[in-house]
Amino acid sequence: MEKCSNKYSKPRCEEIVRFIKNEYNRKKIPLHEPRLLGREMEYLWRCIDTGYVSSVGEFVVDVEKDIASYTGAKYAVAMCSGTAALHMALMCAGVKADDEVITQPLSFVATANAISYLGASPIFVDVDMETMGMSPKSLSDFLDLHCVKRYGKCYNKHTNKHISACVPMHTFGMVCQIDEIAQICQSWGIMLIEDAAEGIGSKYKDIHCGRFGLAGVFSFNGNKVITSGGGGMLITDDEALAKRAKHLSTTAKIPHLYEYDHDEIGYNYRMPNLNAALLKAQIENLDLCLMSKRRQAERYAKFFETMGIKFINEPIECNSNYWLMGIILEDRSKRDELLEFANDNDVMMRPAWKLLSQLKMYKNCMKDSNQNAKYLVDRIVCLPSGVLS
Ligand SMILES: Cc1ncc(COP(=O)(O)O)c(C=O)c1O
Repeated sequence: MEKCSNKYSKPRCEEIVRFIKNEYNRKKIPLHEPRLLGREMEYLWRCIDTGYVSSVGEFVVDVEKDIASYTGAKYAVAMCSGTAALHMALMCAGVKADDEVITQPLSFVATANAISYLGASPIFVDVDMETMGMSPKSLSDFLDLHCVKRYGKCYNKHTNKHISACVPMHTFGMVCQIDEIAQICQSWGIMLIEDAAEGIGSKYKDIHCGRFGLAGVFSFNGNKVITSGGGGMLITDDEALAKRAKHLSTTAKIPHLYEYDHDEIGYNYRMPNLNAALLKAQIENLDLCLMSKRRQAERYAKFFETMGIKFINEPIECNSNYWLMGIILEDRSKRDELLEFANDNDVMMRPAWKLLSQLKMYKNCMKDSNQNAKYLVDRIVCLPSGVLS
């Protein structure tokens, strides 16, 4: 591919890269890096000092309480990754092998993988152009066209399989039209599990994402707004689901002072205390990080407006955490020109993910036209979005 050879594009690529270098004032600018500016060292040292570096410890209990209280959920269960939390959420909600689960094509691969771990198949319905998350209209159209309700449950007319759950995702921290999706799921007898991996701190109509269905999950991977190094969290208001998620993700061990007895096949999905210590310190600075990202988003929005480029702003009724900020360019070739120029010049930018419905292992799954997702994936460029101190 020719590198920004076009007379119109090259100065534009240069101007964008110059602006970002000026903002971040660094030689090499990553897409998103952790900001470890609070009590991280103190809490990590406490783990080392007490020897509680592994799968039990005060910080695990603390972060579960902190996230429950921050999001307003009744229960939170810490795990070793967002993927593990999504797997457990679906399993504890009762998704079974041979079920079908509706999700969106524009997402990170973990969304579909967690469905597949259970032997269920994903169905990909299109995203909305504004929110980039699942489109309530596409969901509703798909259900009306392909599904029937029998004894309160939703079945696919073509495969005769039970569609047990729906997993919308809050893309880059923008919350999708989740209340409409929740209503549609309710009327069809489908369980709603939110993949809010990217959404800590994001709200819809003042309610934290992850709280609109049976359960929601967050990721605290190193590239997220706040991090535990690696980790995830399931939130729910359902006591039985929370208890089962805790039990299954901690090897299904029956609590006992010294005996090892397990009552089913469990998973070692525990969040180590070391990771929880890091997360505790990060949660203490979450609101500061959110403020800093919002200011960054405002500066980006102003700059791109002057260039006549569409900056991805939070949709109406959504208060976004602006996890990954991005722009929408004219077409795929303009996208690739900027990606190539920026990455060549030490400013990391990336496209959105290859659509899940086009990945080798999911390309034969059922889907609608996915036309909005295709349009967006050709045009989105994610910009450096790290928290400035
Ligand atoms: C949409 C989405 N779902 C799930 C995950 C999985 O989270 P983790 O990397 O913590 O397993 C991620 C991110 O990393 C994600 O972006």
